Parts: sequence; structure tokens; C-alpha cells
Amino acid sequence: TEYLTYYNLYLRSLALGQQYSSLGSQPILCGSIPGLVPKQLRFCRNYIEIMPSVAEGVKLGIQECQHQFRGRRWNCTTIKDNLAIFGPVLDKVKEAGISFKPFTRSAFVHAIASAGVAFAVTRSCAEGTSTMCGCDSHHKGPPGEGWKWGGCSEDAEFGVLVSREFADARENRPDARSAMNRHNNEAGRMTILENMHLRCKCHGLSGSCEVKTCWWAQPDFRLLGDYLKDKYDSASEMMVEKHRESRGWVETLRAKYAFFKHPTERDLVYYEGSPNFCEPNPETGSFGTRDRICNVSSHGIEGCDLLCCGRGHNTRTEKRKEKCHCIFHWCCYVSCQECVRVYDVHTCK
Ligand SMILES: *[C@@H]1O[C@H](CO)[C@@H](O)[C@H](O)[C@H]1NC(C)=O
Ligand SMILES: *[C@@H]1O[C@H](CO)[C@@H](O)[C@H](O)[C@H]1NC(C)=O
Repeated sequence: TEYLTYYNLYLRSLALGQQYSSLGSQPILCGSIPGLVPKQLRFCRNYIEIMPSVAEGVKLGIQECQHQFRGRRWNCTTIKDNLAIFGPVLDKVKEAGISFKPFTRSAFVHAIASAGVAFAVTRSCAEGTSTMCGCDSHHKGPPGEGWKWGGCSEDAEFGVLVSREFADARENRPDARSAMNRHNNEAGRMTILENMHLRCKCHGLSGSCEVKTCWWAQPDFRLLGDYLKDKYDSASEMMVEKHRESRGWVETLRAKYAFFKHPTERDLVYYEGSPNFCEPNPETGSFGTRDRICNVSSHGIEGCDLLCCGRGHNTRTEKRKEKCHCIFHWCCYVSCQECVRVYDVHTCK
């Protein structure tokens, strides 16, 4: 299902891109894009100018995914810029779900798509297509040896900010999946910031380079794809930890193997998709824990806190007939009376 929500969002962003290019100057109707969460809808309305580059970025990311995974069993080709393939996408995604360590693949897709958004927004800002953004004025300063600043330095910080706002908007659940997606989205964007470099151009008669101007530029997107593919190949396996916070249960990720170096924000992470069995899920065979009897005085796994996954519990009283006042008769039998005892029974909400 992770793949589904994720791709739904991005297929829809693609549709947005198409809508935009086919309608030319007609305005985008944010409300007509299905599947945006409220925060994304607000974003779309507030920053409508840059929505086409957001969509373009998603497309870039998916194309790069297709390149990096060409020849693999699941090669990203199901992601096309056409909503008509929605049905087959669902099937393919299911197929991908049973492949080895599916979440590592998901880690790459998140990273490359969020990098794509940051990249495309940054580029279009430098090309002057939006009044909201432009060139990076931080990279002006004193000239270097043999060159001077010139042209438009790309403002990757802005693109990263946009990607953070838009791509992370739906990753706000307190669960491990959201934590993983946020982490990998950020790792994708970091790859851009890490690889910013000077790009220069010579001026002068027949390429004599009498004057050299340089600007701060993003790496080629292909290079970003290659870097992220390397990170994918060495992604860190995490385990899920649950904490009680004032807002309720929160899941966080911790490196599974203490003897490996802890992943930095630049590394891709995944966890084995061990279902937590809190909710019913026919795919994993989980029945969920609703109505399960729990032990209110235990802090163990049978205790109401953990067994009910933080949803709380109901208490009812139950009358049980029990044998009582038993007398041993010589010889040899026991006679008892029947008593009714009242018990508190706790069940998960
Ligand atoms: C991707 O996979 C599909 C179906 O498995 C195949 O038809 C297609 O040629 C592949 N594309 C690339 C670029 O490998
Ligand atoms: C509930 O947990 C408490 C504390 O661990 C234990 O003493 C008690 O026997 C448990 N009750 C049942 C019905 O298992």
C-alpha cells in the first residue's frame, strides 16, 4: 500500500504536468488534482507558479529510476505519464511488493523523486520562470583565480525547501513508514546540496578563454541518480522503536546493527516490512488486536498499552460461575457449591 499512496501522489503530479502543458496558459486548478493532502493543496494554491516544475521534477525522478533499474524485475516503467495505466500500475506494484526487500526499492524511489522536485524547481528558478525565486545571491563574493562570478548561480536551497514542503507533506504520521520516507526524501535532496559545484564558461576570441565566468550549479541529474543508486546498494537496515510521547505512540527508527556506523541523514534507510499486527491486514494475515483481551496491570506485550497499540481499552464486568466452598468427603469425593464471581475484563479498542 505504501507504493500505492506514493505513486498515486506522483502520478497525479504527472497528470498535473500534462494538464499544464496541454492547456498552455490556462491556470492549474489545484482542487481538481485528486489525492493531494490538505497541506499540498494549500501549497499548490499558494505557489501555483512553481507547480509545473514540481511536476517536471517528479517526471525527472521517475525517468531516472527507470534508467537506474533498467533490466531489473521491477524497472519503474509502470510509472508513465498517463493516468490510464492506473490499473496495471496497481498490479505491478503488488508484484514489486513481493520482491526481495521491497522497502529498499521504495527508499530509492522516494529519494530520487524528492531530489527531482528540488532539482527541477531550482533549475526553473535560475531560468527565471518564476517571480518567487531566482539566482542564488550568496555565491557572488570575491572572484577566484582566473575567473569571475557571472551568470546565474542556482539556488538549490530554495528547491530543497519546496521539495521538503511538498513531498514531505503527506509523511506526517507518527509511524515508522513516515519516518523512513521523510528520511529518504531528505537524503535525496542532500545529494544535490552535497554535489553543487562551479560551472564555468570561457569568453574570448575563438574560445581563447580571456575571460572566464563561473556560477554555482547543480550536478547533472544523471550523476545524482548514480549517487543515489550507490546509496541504495548500501542502504542501512533499521529497526522500529516505539515511544510514548504526549501526542501518543510515536515510532522512530534505529540502526539495526550497532556495529555498523549509524546512517547519516545522507544515507538511505529501510526496515524489514515486519507487520506490527496492530491493524487487520489480509495481505499479512493479521487480524488486528481489536477486542483482544489484555492485562491492565502488565507492562509486557499482553498488557493493554502494547497489545492495543496505544488505542486504549474498554472495560466490562463479566460474571463467571465458579465452584466454591468445596468440601472434601471421606472417602473420596469433593462437593462444591456454585458461586458467581465478578471479573473486570479489559479489551482493546
Ligand atoms: C521494463 O520492464 C518491462 C516489463 O517487465 C519491459 O517491457 C521493458 O522493456 C523494461 N524496460 C527497460 C528500460 O528495461
Ligand atoms: C496480569 O499481569 C500481572 C502483572 O504482570 C500478573 O500478576 C497477573 O497474573 C496477570 N493477570 C492475568 C489474568 O494474566
